[in-house]
Order: sequence, then C-alpha cells, then structure tokens
Amino acid sequence: MSDAPITHAEFTRAFRDTLGMFATGITVVATRAPNGEPIGLTVNSFNSVSLDPPLIVWSLANDLPSRQVFEQCEYYSVNVLAADQMHLSQIFASRSDDKFAGLEIDEGLYGVPLLRDCCARFECRNITRHPGGDHLVFISEVVRFDRTDREPLIFQGGAYRQLAPL
Ligand SMILES: Cc1cc2nc3c(=O)[nH]c(=O)nc-3n(C[C@H](O)[C@H](O)[C@H](O)COP(=O)(O)O)c2cc1C
Repeated sequence: MSDAPITHAEFTRAFRDTLGMFATGITVVATRAPNGEPIGLTVNSFNSVSLDPPLIVWSLANDLPSRQVFEQCEYYSVNVLAADQMHLSQIFASRSDDKFAGLEIDEGLYGVPLLRDCCARFECRNITRHPGGDHLVFISEVVRFDRTDREPLIFQGGAYRQLAPL
C-alpha cells in the first residue's frame, strides 16, 4: 500500500473493498411492525457470539427505514439464504414497501415471519442493542432454530457466489 495521502471517500472505498474479502453467508432478518405488517432486510453482518447461552449478533445501518421497527421489536427471525435464493437477497436489499408480496412464509414465535426453503432459520429474542458508529449492533438469544441440507448463498468481493469444494 502506498503512503500517499488519500481522501475520506478513497479511504471508505478501500475499507469497504478490504472488508469484502471476508466471505459471508446472506441472511434476511425479519419481524413484524406494530401494525402487523411483515418487514425484513438483507443482512450479511450476522454471526455467532455464544453457544451457552445461545447468542447471535448482527448490525443495522442507522439511516434505514426499518430501523425504527427493529429498535423496538423484541422478537425477529434470521433466515440464512440458500444458493438458489439470490432473488430474495435482492428483494430484501431494496427499498420496496412490499418485500413479502407473493412469498409464502411460516409463522414463528410471536408471529415472526420465517422464510421457506432456507439453509437455516433462527428465531431470536433481542437482548441488547449497542451503538456502533453508523450502525446499531443487535445481540439476541436464539429461542428456536431449524435447518435443511441446502447449499448456502455466499457473498464476497461485492458479488454473490456459491460453495465449491477444495
Ligand atoms: C449482501 C448484502 C448485505 C447487507 N447487509 C446489511 C447489514 O448487515 N446491515 C444493514 O443494515 N444493511 C445491510 N444491507 C443493506 C440493506 O439490506 C438495504 O439497505 C435494505 O434496503 C434495508 O431495508 P429497508 O430499506 O427496508 O430498511 C445489505 C445488503 C446486501 C445486498
């Protein structure tokens, strides 16, 4: 790396690209707004935290429309997308008002929406929320979970990918 001074925008771009070297799965985090409407967004900041108690973490950008609901809800689901569910990642990463249109969903605890045909699903109760720069970091307890043997969708270097054996 060169020592030449860089602008803030260049720093942010380089930081993003470097973070993008870390391959992740893709999840959709979903809950219900107080009026009962299902809401959800694509999230790849999901990770495990603790086995006992069973805790997971994810973070939500401060400036998103869904922030107000997630700041207040107690229960939500984390749905780990399968390799053939890239379209769901794209829908849930959009600003659409009706991301669930035409989608068959299961009802989880407290009516939390659960997507079908995922690799894994976690039903979570929020424990804490921590401000983390331009994101809010959620830590929650996993209350119920299930999985299938489907291959996961992968995100790396700003692109969708799928697993290949070494
Ligand atoms: C692959 C991928 C991963 C993403 N991960 C996150 C994330 O971890 N946290 C986040 O706040 N937004 C993330 N986003 C962006 C949100 O999905 C996107 O801003 C979405 O529009 C938010 O929904 P809303 O507009 O209904 O609030 C991700 C988007 C993509 C495509």
